[in-house]
Amino acid sequence: MSHFILEPSAAAIQAAAASLMAGNLVAFPTETVYGLGADASNAAAVARIYSVKGRPVDHPLIVHVASADALGKWAKDVPEYAIKLARDFWPGPMTLVLKRSKLVGDFITGGQDTVGVRVPEHPVALALLEAFENLGGKGVAAPSANRFGHVSPTTAQAVRDELSEHLHADDQILNGGPCAVGVESTIIDCTGAAPQILRPGAITAAMIETSTALQMMKKSDGLISNSTNKKGEIDSFEQIRVSGSLETHYAPKARVFLCETPVNGQGFIAHANIQTPEGVIRLASPRSDEEFAQLLYSALRQADSLGLAEVVVVQPIGIGIAVAIRDRLARAANGR
Ligand code: TXA
Ligand code: MG
Repeated sequence: MSHFILEPSAAAIQAAAASLMAGNLVAFPTETVYGLGADASNAAAVARIYSVKGRPVDHPLIVHVASADALGKWAKDVPEYAIKLARDFWPGPMTLVLKRSKLVGDFITGGQDTVGVRVPEHPVALALLEAFENLGGKGVAAPSANRFGHVSPTTAQAVRDELSEHLHADDQILNGGPCAVGVESTIIDCTGAAPQILRPGAITAAMIETSTALQMMKKSDGLISNSTNKKGEIDSFEQIRVSGSLETHYAPKARVFLCETPVNGQGFIAHANIQTPEGVIRLASPRSDEEFAQLLYSALRQADSLGLAEVVVVQPIGIGIAVAIRDRLARAANGR
């Protein structure tokens, strides 16, 4: 089924909020990536997210709300440092994992006793969440709007390419232009004595430590963790399941190689100051790490639409958003 992409007029956003209330799905832009939203209080609507994505049901979803005021609805025993983080970085590219309140159904958390909550910064997302809350809605569950394991969409067209054949006629895709950040939110576990990064993103370890005046708990330094086995399954001792922590994830059809010199016919993604060898297909030439994050997923998608078998990526070095880029690239390159 082919889906129209809706321009986000006030009327379209209002209609999308009503459609969510009615139990339909709405894909919407955030500043990180596009999300596939459903009423987080509606088990049947949330179940459709899993079937449209082809995602295992034990992988928890993030609940999106219009402001930190809604935190008390979804979470309990929120530590002081999490309140500081919310104050400093919401709306923004950060998800807090907290103890869940009674409101939270097992169908959101995959049965875990925690819940991920985020206030996104994109104006269309905020307007949609506000309209939804004005209609009596409590929050919108939304994973990235891609099929399970694939590259997250950073444009409305990419959502349509990914999900169109799985969506119903009453589902909608709201256009908000290309995403400004381009990689998914930083996920921070706030259930311990100090914060712990579960997935690196634009809110960095240094920013978190400055905000909370606490030293981060380190399972890893925010890079790929060793808690998955060879087949990409999560070992049973791992209590918190982050589907983005599977070893192969965020992956295009093309095989991704890191640390290699590209050869004839391969795709190539690297900082603008690195030249393109003869016969190589340049997919992106970002001039900064921020631009690298912005362009990465659309460049990987382009590799697939050009039918390229292989893509070579020269990873950005350093800290900041480069940590998140390397994390995603390591997973995109893994097991392929
Ligand atoms: O930037 C983002 O976070 C985007 C936009 C749409 O907000 N969303 C996103 O959702 O990336 P998703 O479902 O594709 O990835 C969220 C990750 C998943 O790997 C999930 O397992 C993890 O967050 N997660 C959600 N709730 C969790 C929880 N209670 N504990 C641990 N991990 C959780
Ligand atoms: Mg995802």
